[in-house]
Amino acid sequence: MNTEKIHEKFVSLYGEGGRTYSSAGRINLIGEHTDYNGGYVFPGAIDKCIVAEIKLNGTDKVRAFSLDYDASVEFGMAEEDKPSEQWACYLFGVIRETIKRGGVVKGFDTVFAGDVPLGAGLSSSAALESTFAFAINDIFENGIDKFTLAKIGQSTEHNYCGVKCGIMDQFASVFGRKGSLIRLNCKTLEYKYFPFDPKGYKLVLVDSCVKHELASSAYNARRESCERAAAAIKKNHPEVDFLSDCKRVWLDEVRDEISSEDFLRAEYVIGEVQRVLDVCDALERNDYEIVGEMMYQTHFGLSKLYEVSCEELDFLNKFARLNGVTGSRVMGGGFGGCTINLVKEELYSRFVSDVRAAFAEKFGHQPKIYDVVISDGARKLD
Ligand code: GLA
Repeated sequence: MNTEKIHEKFVSLYGEGGRTYSSAGRINLIGEHTDYNGGYVFPGAIDKCIVAEIKLNGTDKVRAFSLDYDASVEFGMAEEDKPSEQWACYLFGVIRETIKRGGVVKGFDTVFAGDVPLGAGLSSSAALESTFAFAINDIFENGIDKFTLAKIGQSTEHNYCGVKCGIMDQFASVFGRKGSLIRLNCKTLEYKYFPFDPKGYKLVLVDSCVKHELASSAYNARRESCERAAAAIKKNHPEVDFLSDCKRVWLDEVRDEISSEDFLRAEYVIGEVQRVLDVCDALERNDYEIVGEMMYQTHFGLSKLYEVSCEELDFLNKFARLNGVTGSRVMGGGFGGCTINLVKEELYSRFVSDVRAAFAEKFGHQPKIYDVVISDGARKLD
């Protein structure tokens, strides 16, 4: 990230004396759409991030400049002051959610920018939320713990951006650690760092560059399906709070009580919760063939049962399979964005050039390729 440009702009608008903070986008090796179902996820922060420089301005207003949008906004911090610009709502939401939790926030000036590709499933919005949640907590010495910082970002999505997301993205962005993936149990919030250095393999993202207009409403609809299925199962098994608590046979018991669509969604989730555990076991044995196989199974589920894939992503997945890639699947919420691919080093260059050519021939535009470096999450830079 070019922090120089941010600093230059900051000084030209607000003068010297700012402090600089950053937080990261994320990947997720496996465990998709499991977070809001109380299951496991297995994400890590990446070397694509948001950087913000911030300084108190002695007023009760926030003045923010987005370098990427080349736009500025000024707003107050009361509930009725919500700005109309979508990008500013993330910042506004973080401030409101901090205040709701008893944190102090006073007026400040900020300039920020990022290199997390938008709409690629790499959680640019969580990176933005986590940067400001962390920065505000540090500057105003609110003493809010890291989990609550992640929840401030999640609640921002729920209450100010219309996405009923789980905790994974903000968790990864806040807790990310260089070189490690993190397995999080989204029900108990227990987590464990797993050093991730697959000898002889590379992780590469292939971005279809497809963005689905209705992704947030489709995402929320998936969540509702899961909640209906869990509620039906709970009638027979009162101990069930989430789909992650369910045995597969318990789902079969309610097959006639829920829609076939809800059934398929739940079938996917129950399988995916188990796959995360299988992948963790496989990683402990350095068995990347199993890790890859699970990734393909996840893609199948996301495409055919959860129905959050699309033609371009299915094409990328199939191309990977046919060209000897160890594992491949759609990553993140879906409805466009990237596939994550586990590729043997010796196949890497050929795969990247072949997938570019094949995708461009079929869809008329090149996919983007991102190498992944697992990096630190939210932090102060100077
Ligand atoms: C989005 C959400 C996350 C998670 C993923 C799917 O990234 O923000 O909470 O549900 O989709 O795993």
